[in-house]
This record gives sequence, structure tokens and C-alpha cells, in this order.
Amino acid sequence: MIVAIAVHGGAGAWRLGEDGMQTAVNDCHRAAQAGYQLLQEGKSALDAVEAAVNILEDAPLLDAGRGSFPNADGDVEMDALIMDGNSLDIGAIAAIQQVQHPISLARRVMSDSPHNFFVGDGASAFADSINFPRCAVEELLVETEEMSGAIGDTVGAVALDADGNLAVATSTGGTRDKQPGRVGDSPLVGSGGYADNWTAATSATGYGEALMKVVISKTTCDFVAAGLSAQAASDAAIQLLEERTGGKGGLITIDRHGNVGISRNTQAMPYAFVDGDGVEKNGR
Ligand code: GLY
Repeated sequence: MIVAIAVHGGAGAWRLGEDGMQTAVNDCHRAAQAGYQLLQEGKSALDAVEAAVNILEDAPLLDAGRGSFPNADGDVEMDALIMDGNSLDIGAIAAIQQVQHPISLARRVMSDSPHNFFVGDGASAFADSINFPRCAVEELLVETEEMSGAIGDTVGAVALDADGNLAVATSTGGTRDKQPGRVGDSPLVGSGGYADNWTAATSATGYGEALMKVVISKTTCDFVAAGLSAQAASDAAIQLLEERTGGKGGLITIDRHGNVGISRNTQAMPYAFVDGDGVEKNGR
């Protein structure tokens, strides 16, 4: 049975220089390989995307978990979404503070709560109710000379497991200096991500205010349902984003056969994937 995984480190006008970009690509390589290893061991697509995104959340140059952009008050408010393409179960959190791995909290929303989505104080209360690990904001903030010019955004992963199940995970610190309480596309089902075993799994990155207008991840999966390849569907959704909103972003997609699509209309988007043939490709 075919397994496959793709990850991204955020689409944007990356200005970190060659070393910074190579670090981001290397982070994607490590995340894709970790997820692929789990898939080869027979673990689920959900396990693989969570593990891959945990690695990207720990990467200080990427805008999720540690390394998240601070908001206008200097706090870190993070958003995350995970979705099971088999059951269509969802777990999401928004404006969560002081957790290192928001995607794992989103998964616990899916597994340990009768609800799909918690925000702000409610998300914090849920985290504490399940004894989810908390951290200080200082552990999340990474302000270096290099980072000040970066406009990379959001991390994500999509995977197909040996049972034919698809999953998506997307995690972000949102936009730099955002107004407190602002929530972007990432935790919104259909916008920041979508997974359906009948079609595909897609994770989105970019300017959330535009991405959510075209529900870009569900739109991509719908294009696959209409007969487009994972690559053509991703390209068509990015074209729709640009034509209807003028927005910028990027997408990674895996269809139910393990075919991968990577698309962006930004300057760069570090990514890595291992497709159904077991060969890794990475780039920007
Ligand atoms: N794409 C992440 C955000 O706009 O918050």
C-alpha cells in the first residue's frame, strides 16, 4: 500500500538569505522524513502529520509554536487545525497562548472533547483541564536580526497512510503585529486545511484574510473531485485566490492515490515531500 507525506514551512516573501532559506528547507526535510518513518511503521496519517508539524513548530525560523510572530501587544497567539480524512473529524484552536505544540492541543480537542473548536480563554481552560503542557511566552518568542525581515508564514503537513486514510495539520503564529484576537485562515476548516478520503488533503499558507475568502483548501479538494490532478488542483486554487482576491499564498496537496501538488504565488515556500514512490523532493 502506498504512503506519502508533504510538508511546508510557510509561503511568503522570505528575506532570510540563502542560509536561512536552507535552514527552513532542512526543517521541512526533517519533518517529512519523521512523518514518513511513522507511515512506514504503519502509523496513521494523523500521527504522521502531528509529528511532522511538531518538528516545524519547534523550528525557530518558522512562524508556528517556537518562532511565532508576536502580536501588537507582544504576546504570541497561535491557531491550529487537524482533520481526519476518514471520519471528517476536526480539532481546532485559535488565539491560544503559552503552548509549544498547538497542533497537539488541536488533536486533543478532536479526541478528548465533544466539540471541534476552542478559542482564547476557552482554549486555555481546555488545555488546563487535560493537563496539556504550558510554557512561558519567552520560550516562543525568537527575535533575531535575521527574523525581522522574514515574512514566512504558517507550517503544515498532509499525509496518506497505509490504510488509505488522509489527514492534514496546519499550525501558525499568524501575522506579525496582528491585532490581539485576530484569527486567520489556519484553524478554519476548509481554509487552513481540509482532508477527505474521497478526494485529497490540503494545507494552506499565506495571507489569511484572502485565503479564507475562497475557502482555499476545500476548493482545492473539490477541484480534485472534479478530476484535476493534485498539482493542477493546487495551481487552479492559487489562480482563483489571485484572480478573486489578489491574495498571496501557497498550498500542499496529496490525493487519495499519493500524488502530490505544490503551488504558490509568493516569492518562496520551503517544502519537502515523499510521494508514493518513496522518493523525497524538497525545495522552496
Ligand atoms: N495564514 C496564516 C494567517 O494568516 O494567520
